[in-house]
Amino acid sequence: MKKVRVQLDNRSYNILVGHGLLNDCGRILKKLNIGTDAFIITNSRIANLYKKTIRKSLEKSGFTVKFELIADSERSKSLSCTGDILNKLSRYDVNKHIFIIALGGGVVGDLSGFVASIYKRGVPYVQVPTTLLAQVDSAIGGKVAVDLAVAKNMVGAFYQPKVVICDICAIQTLPPRQVRNGLAEVIKYGVIKDASLFKYIESNYKRILELDVDALLYVVGKSCKIKADIVAKDEFDNRGLRTILNYGHTMGHAIEAASHYSGRYNHGESIALGMLISGRISTSLGFIKKSEADRIERLIGNTGLPIAIKGVRDEDIYSAHLHDKKFIKGKNRFILAEKIGKVSVVDSISDRVICKALEAYLK
Ligand SMILES: NC(=O)c1ccc[n+]([C@@H]2O[C@H](COP(=O)([O-])OP(=O)(O)OC[C@H]3O[C@@H](n4cnc5c(N)ncnc54)[C@H](O)[C@@H]3O)[C@@H](O)[C@H]2O)c1
Ligand SMILES: [Zn+2]
Repeated sequence: MKKVRVQLDNRSYNILVGHGLLNDCGRILKKLNIGTDAFIITNSRIANLYKKTIRKSLEKSGFTVKFELIADSERSKSLSCTGDILNKLSRYDVNKHIFIIALGGGVVGDLSGFVASIYKRGVPYVQVPTTLLAQVDSAIGGKVAVDLAVAKNMVGAFYQPKVVICDICAIQTLPPRQVRNGLAEVIKYGVIKDASLFKYIESNYKRILELDVDALLYVVGKSCKIKADIVAKDEFDNRGLRTILNYGHTMGHAIEAASHYSGRYNHGESIALGMLISGRISTSLGFIKKSEADRIERLIGNTGLPIAIKGVRDEDIYSAHLHDKKFIKGKNRFILAEKIGKVSVVDSISDRVICKALEAYLK
């Protein structure tokens, strides 16, 4: 088992990356001393796969266990679902020492963390991510939130988990599209911080897509370490250091929003396209050699992530990007690669350059 520390004073915690950790989560949590009664938030798909294993492990260590199922949809990240869970939780919480477990992907993780952050002004919670995207990204760093009609993640908090348990066995049941969804974020980490990780993915993307355990242990461990180190330096996203995690996300979010979160492009697919557009901008401004940008594009294509935008209108993408949260006082903000392993944050890129880069990928 690999242990990655997220160093945040008295909010520090470990990310555990290993094989078969679900069977061990009772023992892991017992040592943390965070409560006696586990309130597990998940959905029915994940419960069908992992409920028995996690229940057995927790009960063996003396915990009581209660499951709360939410609908398998981004729509569960809502204030109404939050209220519903808070009511159920408070009715259940009689003579108990409650802690919350988020068992699932980013939807379950973001909602559960938000519930944990506001229930009784905060109760301990634990992330047990079951998607590749959640293991390498959303379960780490303490950004918890639900959506409003106007935009995603509009109501939330910074609230760190007590531990993140990444069991590679728990992602063996992911459909291929969900594996690619998470792989896009792993490619992002390679480009922003770690050329050797990028090279590893170039050589091993087939093994990753086939869910090879050793390849996954390697990329999940590396990705968690990169995110943990960035979060440790900028927990509350106010020192400008977390910004580089948004590489590919300026246009990625715009593509997601312009397709109205219809599922035409999931998050990873959108940011893969965002990375391509960012690469084109970077090349046209002379920030990156074309050969390096081509490597990024080739890897994205090889993994089966999209390399062209279909069925979304360019004007919708353009106007969605104007509403991006990264816009500061009317100036846009892009994270541009200078080479693989190094990015910089660039503001106020001209509309002409952006539109040209966008058009290059519209089919
Ligand atoms: N908090 C953050 O820092 C952060 C970062 C990135 C993304 N997010 C959020 O994460 C969410 C997306 O997360 P996601 O991509 O994990 O999507 P998701 O949670 O919707 O999961 C994707 C699908 O996979 C299924 N699934 C989960 N685990 C499975 C398993 N082991 N086997 C088979 N199927 C499984 C889910 O039921 C769902 O249908 C978005 O709401 C996004 O805003 C948050
Ligand atoms: Zn992302």
